[in-house]
Formats: sequence, structure tokens, C-alpha cells
Amino acid sequence: MFEVWSCKRTLIKCFFLAALLTFFVGFFLNRRGHAKAGQSLHPVDKEFYAVISPSTYKYVLNQPEKCKGRHPFLVLMVPVAPKDRSSRDAVRKTWGQEDSIPNVDILRLFFAGLPPGDWGGVHIQSDLEKESQEHRDIIQMDFLDSYGNLTVKTMMMMHWLASQCGHASYAMKVDADIFLNVHYLVQHLLDPTAGTARRGFITGSVIADGRPRRNRNSKWHIPEEVFPEDSYPPYVSGAGYVFSTDLAGKISWASRFVRPLPLEDVYVGLCLRLLGVRPVYSYSLASMRSLFVVGNLEYRRCAYSQLVLVNGFPPHRLLRVWHDFQKAPFTC
Ligand SMILES: *[C@@H]1O[C@H](CO)[C@@H](O)[C@H](O)[C@H]1NC(C)=O
Repeated sequence: MFEVWSCKRTLIKCFFLAALLTFFVGFFLNRRGHAKAGQSLHPVDKEFYAVISPSTYKYVLNQPEKCKGRHPFLVLMVPVAPKDRSSRDAVRKTWGQEDSIPNVDILRLFFAGLPPGDWGGVHIQSDLEKESQEHRDIIQMDFLDSYGNLTVKTMMMMHWLASQCGHASYAMKVDADIFLNVHYLVQHLLDPTAGTARRGFITGSVIADGRPRRNRNSKWHIPEEVFPEDSYPPYVSGAGYVFSTDLAGKISWASRFVRPLPLEDVYVGLCLRLLGVRPVYSYSLASMRSLFVVGNLEYRRCAYSQLVLVNGFPPHRLLRVWHDFQKAPFTC
């Protein structure tokens, strides 16, 4: 009897020791993991961060009522230059229609900076303000709207989303010169009947082998002092990418630790790497290609009905193709 008891006691002791050991080993491994992550977390210099931080700029036009009391399923965020009225009108008449899918709340917004400050700029600005009163879908901040400031604009979109529309399930950053099949995106890729929306999710045309161009004449030139590594982490092409809304605030937070680059999609990729979020590929099994076609693809109604987006659609082409595309549900 006594022997059995001592044996039992030894067993209890062993078990206790093992549990303690597991706890401490786990604790130290964990600490090391945190320390490792912490080592790479250097806030960027104040002057660099100020360039892309939305708190540096003021709203010239805002739509604070747009998302109030709503839980949109999808927010379409379209960066445009102030002068691109025809692009905005084409988007409003095509994939940007907010009531295109019954019972699915979709919100469309255009994001702009300031027109160049010369004589023409005054007219562009007053036209934009009139257009904004008419449609209530334009958000503008007071930085110069230029190619080099696209990263600033993207951070502005993330900030707007996180602070004014955080209840939305998904958001998409999509250029105006895109053919977007909203129906396929909503019904097949995101699925409003799925119950809860995903988190930490981003998909699009994934670029996994991007490298910085060191040639000064390249449009995509990035000097080594700005980004010393030889390759970019995986990122999604800026033409159009879709993400769960929780990422908007997380990307805004991560931007405190990532030095600004003028390539907005690479920049978002760098923020995602810091967050440990990997962009997801979206493939069509039928065509064995990405659902996000960034590159030319000849228009064919039924092929397009099985894709999310194709790029290369200036306003006149978008309007023409969209007209034909309305026949897809009955003919494909
Ligand atoms: C970005 O906007 C700021 C603020 O308007 C301006 O000073 C700067 O020149 C712009 N940068 C580029 C590259 O256009």
C-alpha cells in the first residue's frame, strides 16, 4: 500500500515538474519570439512619417454621413485625380453603382488630393466641389494629387476606412480604369451569406517576385537608401485589391514603422509583412488563371463573367463593354 502511494507521489511529482518545465521553456521561447519581432520595430524618422501620415493633412471634402449607421458589405475606394470627371462618371454608371446587387450594401467613394496650384487648378477645384455636392461621393485631402503622392493617398483611404467606416466587412482599392465584375467578386469570392467576414485577409493579383529598380530613369526607381533589400515581399498589384476592413487600421499602424516609398502597392506589401499577413492568391479553376487580370485580356463576355477584374479600361471603353456585359447573366 505504502509503495503504491510513493509511486503515485513520484508520478505526481514528475507530472508537476514536466508541467513546470513546459511552462518555463514556453515562456522563454515566447519572450525570444517577441524580442525578435521587437528588434525590427523601429519607428521611422518623424519627418518621413509626417509625409504619409493622414494627421499631417486636412480634409477639403469629406462624407462623414456616408457610412454612419451602416454596416456595408463592401466599400469601393477609387483613387482619382481631381480633373478626372469622365472617369468618375463612367465608374458611377458601371461597376460603381451602389445598388447593383440586391440586399448587399455597397458603398462607392472617390479619393483625391489637390489639383496643381496654377490657373487651371482653381476651376478644377470649384468643379470638383460642385460635383461633390451633387453626388456626395468624393473625399479630398490637402496634399498635391500626383503620381509621387499615391502612397499618401492610399494611407488616407486606410485612415478614412478605419476611422469612419470600420463596421464594413470588406473594402477594395480599385483604380478607375478597371473593368470590375462586382457580381463575381461579391457572390463568389467574398460571399455575403458566409456569416462572419474574414479577418486579416487580402487578395488580388499577387506579385511574389518583385525587385526594386535601381535604374534612375525607371518610373519605378527606388534608391538603395530608401529600400536596401534586393527583393520586395509579396504584394498585391495596386490596380485592384480586396481586403477585410480590420486590415485598414492595422496597415495604418504598421506605417509608423515602414519608411515611405512612392510605390503604393509595394508599400502596403511592406506593411503586411510587418503584420505577418500574407496576400492570398485568387485563382479560377476553370481557366487556371488569376481572377485579377492585370495585363491585357481581349473582351469576351463569358470569359469576363468568370473574373473579378481586368485592367486597361479608359471611360469610353468601360461604358461600351459594360453595356454588352449586361447580357452575360442570360447568355453565359
Ligand atoms: C505631395 O504632397 C505634398 C503636399 O502637398 C507636396 O508638398 C509634395 O510636393 C507632393 N509630392 C509629390 C512627389 O508630388
